[in-house]
Amino acid sequence: MDRLKNKVAIITGAGAGMGKETSILFAKEGCKVAVFEINEKDGKDTVEIINNQGGIAKFWQVDVSNEEMVKNAINEVIKEFGKIDILINNAGIVGVDKKIHELTVEEWDQVFNVDVKGVFYCTKYVIPYMLENKEGSIVNISSIYGTLGSHELTPYHAAKGAVFAMTKQDAISYAKNNIRVNSIHPGTIMTPLVKELGSRMDGGLEAYEKLMSEKHPIGHAGEPIDVAYGCLYLASDEAKFVTGAQLYIDGGYSAM
Ligand SMILES: NC(=O)c1ccc[n+]([C@@H]2O[C@H](COP(=O)([O-])OP(=O)(O)OC[C@H]3O[C@@H](n4cnc5c(N)ncnc54)[C@H](O)[C@@H]3O)[C@@H](O)[C@H]2O)c1
Repeated sequence: MDRLKNKVAIITGAGAGMGKETSILFAKEGCKVAVFEINEKDGKDTVEIINNQGGIAKFWQVDVSNEEMVKNAINEVIKEFGKIDILINNAGIVGVDKKIHELTVEEWDQVFNVDVKGVFYCTKYVIPYMLENKEGSIVNISSIYGTLGSHELTPYHAAKGAVFAMTKQDAISYAKNNIRVNSIHPGTIMTPLVKELGSRMDGGLEAYEKLMSEKHPIGHAGEPIDVAYGCLYLASDEAKFVTGAQLYIDGGYSAM
């Protein structure tokens, strides 16, 4: 119940999927949660669920690809909660499913603006407060696609690879400051993102889920809570000696 007692976390993309599940779990573990979400209704829903369960959360409407919005919201979190112990860089989009020679610059930028610049902005503006706090834990949600190739989603692979590399670099940059930075690499997790992606593919969601389930040795896709528990461990003091690590939560996909 108290694995994150007295801590304050910012969780981006907290209105759906893994971000929502992680926010609810963190609040149950005693953490105050700043819900950063572009979609107002979904962000407020997450806060309502947490408040109804007796937890503490507040919503900020933030587009992580907008530097000013990120900076202002982080300053407001400090005014509201007094410190920031944890940042979960979770917000992300998959973008178009094209091979490199078919891509436009706009399609490339669309994914990089959210998935890479979003992580850069949130980390950039949180770090000074973590330095002041003399500790911190940042968890970047990359993907199995950040370290492996596949049959789909070229710009997404490149973006998640950038998140993976940023994690290693930031882990080293701030190790002496007691700020830990780790990445999580989920396999296919059944969230609104995957449901939307699957529905765009030949044969629809059912065929996509079957295809992806077969690629995971465990034989099925994961659930948002599987990733939320990984975030909980890395964010908590239980992981005080863990930095620069990559945690695969993928039903064995990356072991193949
Ligand atoms: N679902 C998977 O199979 C899977 C696998 C590997 C990695 N991931 C990564 O995990 C993270 C969460 O994925 P999910 O499946 O829960 O996604 P989701 O689409 O179900 O939820 C993501 C949330 O982020 C929000 N969001 C999108 N763009 C935003 C922006 N610019 N600013 C703020 N909020 C924004 C969305 O509104 C949504 O509420 C993403 O980074 C995704 O790339 C997902």
